[in-house]
Amino acid sequence: MDATVGEGGHTREILRASKKNRVIGIDWDQEMLARAKERVTEYADRVTLRHDTFSHLPDILQTVGVKEVDGLLFDLGVSTVHFQEAKRGFSLLLDGPLDMRMDTRKTITAFDIVNHRPLKEIEKIIRRYGEERWAGRIAAAIGRERQHGEIKTTGVLAEIVARAIPQRYHTTRVHPATKTFQALRIAVNEELQEIEEALAVAPFLLKQGGRIGVISFHSLEDRIVKENFKRLEKTCVCPPTFPQCACGGREQVLKIITKRPLTPGSDELRDNPRARSAKMRVAERAESAQEGSP
Ligand SMILES: C[S@@+](CC[C@H](N)C(=O)[O-])C[C@H]1O[C@@H](n2cnc3c(N)ncnc32)[C@H](O)[C@@H]1O
Repeated sequence: MDATVGEGGHTREILRASKKNRVIGIDWDQEMLARAKERVTEYADRVTLRHDTFSHLPDILQTVGVKEVDGLLFDLGVSTVHFQEAKRGFSLLLDGPLDMRMDTRKTITAFDIVNHRPLKEIEKIIRRYGEERWAGRIAAAIGRERQHGEIKTTGVLAEIVARAIPQRYHTTRVHPATKTFQALRIAVNEELQEIEEALAVAPFLLKQGGRIGVISFHSLEDRIVKENFKRLEKTCVCPPTFPQCACGGREQVLKIITKRPLTPGSDELRDNPRARSAKMRVAERAESAQEGSP
């Protein structure tokens, strides 16, 4: 199962690797799914694509009549394609509406957050999801601008943010509003909640010996993956302060394969600089685990 099918790059490689492989691919962005469909036409009889969110994995498997899978792949975040279309509102460089919804069925947009949420909340979003030290100044600058009217476009917002950050902290390599845009995107799409929900159930959909791989691009995402894998590897759920196990132990669900996350090597970075913050963690469904729900 490719839980983030995107343009279908990973799905295509899995299908190409063996005629025995079948893929169920999900994406919550209809446009991405259409691209993926085109990319895998020659394997159409072995691929099932669904427009849905990966927090619905158990329901999706049920509707396609599959009980468990050999592998689960999550390649989190946005696709490069998202940044290339001004109308989606992800790009800092192309002026477009403040949208940022990956699933256009969602009702909250970046416009709603920037123009209508309390400034304290905007500051919190930018600090937490963007890990931006200038979050307070940026929120205050948004507040001042709001007094003159609505902030409607990515271009205007990018300028407000850039002006709020002292010039000496601007770099030539990264636009000063990058972290703020990332934060708003994560908030609009509730990306961290999605990952939490999916990882609570996904490992239980694996066959024994089946593997789950998650590629993340943000430290908060990676922390969720790491903590969930660790929790599901433990056979004792007593608080660490207990001198000995009082819970009686429980089945091990996952065995962690990558003690440290895999990161791209210099060759890969040369071909694909966007992979610079990628981390991949892999775990295997433990042999002893019984089928069941969390
Ligand atoms: C980094 S791209 C994946 C690229 C893909 N591996 C490829 O080879 O083309 C991430 C994709 O996951 C999708 N996505 C992110 N979060 C999602 C979620 N909660 N449910 C479904 N799709 C999601 C995005 O719409 C995007 O297309």
